[in-house]
Amino acid sequence: MGTNKKILVVNGPNLNLLGTREPEIYGDKTLEDVKRLMLSAAEGYDITLEFFQSNVEGDIINYLHQNRSADGVVINPAAFTHTSIALRDAIAATGIPAVEVHLSNIHAREEFRRVSYVAPVCIGQISGFGIQSYLLGLLALLHHLGIEVRK
Ligand code: DQA
Repeated sequence: MGTNKKILVVNGPNLNLLGTREPEIYGDKTLEDVKRLMLSAAEGYDITLEFFQSNVEGDIINYLHQNRSADGVVINPAAFTHTSIALRDAIAATGIPAVEVHLSNIHAREEFRRVSYVAPVCIGQISGFGIQSYLLGLLALLHHLGIEVRK
C-alpha cells in the first residue's frame, strides 16, 4: 500500500464556459469532460484529484495557499498566465510542484499569449492538445513526482 497523493487541478477565468466558449479555438469539450478524462486516468494511480475553477485571481491564490500541502498541481491559469505576477508568486511561495497546461498552443496565437508569467516557476508547460493537454500534464507531473502506475 502506497501513500495516497493529492493532486490539484486548477482552472482560471472563463474555463467554466469551456464547450461553448470560442469552440473553434478551445473545442467543444466541457470542463466536466476534462474532469472525467482525468479521473479515469487517475484510477491507475494511488492519487486523489481535487478540482477547482475560479474567475477570480485572488480566489485561485487563496486556494493554492490553503492547499499548499498538496503533492502537485496541474494548472491552466487561462488569461492570468499572461498577466499575473501574483499567481506566479503564489506557485513559487507554496512550492507546490506545478505543470502549466493550455488547450490551445499559446505560442501560435497572438503575441501577448506567448509570454507566460507562470512558466518559470513550473516544472514544464503543455500547450496545444485540447483537453488532452490536461491528461499529458497529469502524466508529466506524476512522472516528475516518481508516482508509478498502481500494480
Ligand atoms: C488558455 C490560453 C490563454 O491564452 C487564454 O487566455 C485562455 C485559455 C488555453 O487553455 O488555451 O483562457 O489558457
